[in-house]
Amino acid sequence: MDGDLFAPAPFSGLNELREEAIHCTKCPLHKTRTNVVFDGGNPAARIFLIGEAPGYDEDQSGRVFVGKSGQLLDKIFAACNFTREEHIYISNILKCRPPGNRTPATEEMAACLPYLEQQIEIINPAIIITLGATALKALLGENLKITRERGHWKLYYNRLVMPTYHPSALLRNPNLKKDVWEDFKKVILKYRELVNPGHYCKYV
Ligand code: URA
Repeated sequence: MDGDLFAPAPFSGLNELREEAIHCTKCPLHKTRTNVVFDGGNPAARIFLIGEAPGYDEDQSGRVFVGKSGQLLDKIFAACNFTREEHIYISNILKCRPPGNRTPATEEMAACLPYLEQQIEIINPAIIITLGATALKALLGENLKITRERGHWKLYYNRLVMPTYHPSALLRNPNLKKDVWEDFKKVILKYRELVNPGHYCKYV
């Protein structure tokens, strides 16, 4: 019993980190943001999904992936029989919206990445999914090309990463949907292998 008193709380440090990020002024985006968008989904999930940065709807609401991209993401999750409540934890490379949804600047990413790195340590996911070129490059290397890397398992400090397209790319070009589905099928198979052999998906 005594030992329990000294056991680390689950996701120890996540609330403190979120609190720190909510007051962050490390880059100029703090001047234009409405809300810091730190995370969403389930901190106990074994899949960590990484997007680019909050958009208008996320900045307004303070919640991750609630706009059109998020709605498409939810359809993809549903096809995998994954839910945000159970299977997925979500965050972004940047926690604040770049004005006009422009691509994050190098200095903004450098200022913000330590939050994501600590989130990954705390969540300790079995599988990371990066959405789009910005998340791929920020995590795994500036020179990587999303068209070449997507669908191929990569490693981030011994953690498995599946790079795929960002849902906003699918909204612009629906032809990419079949590639993303192929990538998520690989995630389902890996999830069965590493996390839950009984995970049901009627398509895979
Ligand atoms: N696009 C992203 O990359 N992240 C969000 O949270 C919303 C839109």
